[in-house]
Amino acid sequence: MRIIGLCGSLRAASTNAALLRAAATMLPEGAVLEVAGIGDLPLMNEDLEKPAWPEPVQRLRRHLWTAEALLIACPEYNAGIPAPLKNAIDWASRAEGIGGVTAPAGEARKTPLADLPVGIIGTSPGMLGTARAQQHLRMSLQSTGARVMPGPEAFVGSARGKFDAAGELTDEPSRAAIGRVVAGLVAWAERVRD
Ligand code: FNR
Repeated sequence: MRIIGLCGSLRAASTNAALLRAAATMLPEGAVLEVAGIGDLPLMNEDLEKPAWPEPVQRLRRHLWTAEALLIACPEYNAGIPAPLKNAIDWASRAEGIGGVTAPAGEARKTPLADLPVGIIGTSPGMLGTARAQQHLRMSLQSTGARVMPGPEAFVGSARGKFDAAGELTDEPSRAAIGRVVAGLVAWAERVRD
């Protein structure tokens, strides 16, 4: 199973990126997790959709078209979804054809997010561990037609002290929570596919 990871933080030392790295170590046999960059996407502007989507948009969409599941590491900015992540979702939510590019052959879905199984994780220094942003993210994804996994959820709050000097997630309960989401997402994706 091919899982695409998106990280809502563009920071080089992002703790949310570290959650995705941890998740990559917990995959069952046969599953791979590849993180797709979103830092080079232009800000959503419908004027940029003609004659064709900008190349970074097309690249993100190609990644998502090949995915069987999506794992999003969602930071929290001012109690909501960080702009880079919302921007990526907005670009990915546009119907094929609008940006002068057609869907892969044999693909009936109109967007790469439609019916895509999605799991959500997140971490922040605050106690709520991005719970508010994750709720907003669920609301937005619902309107894209993505199949957001109801649970398990993972809120890695009070992040300081849960990562080592190299920036890797070391807190065992947090690693276990990420592991539950990874296992849950693989099972959810199989159910959605069947
Ligand atoms: C934050 N941060 C933050 N944290 C939180 O728990 N709730 C919040 O509402 C906010 N708001 C917020 C706004 C802005 C503009 C910034 C830049 C930051 C702190 C944020 O969670 C922290 O910087 C995390 O470390 C971001 O995740 P990465 O970059 O480590 O993945």
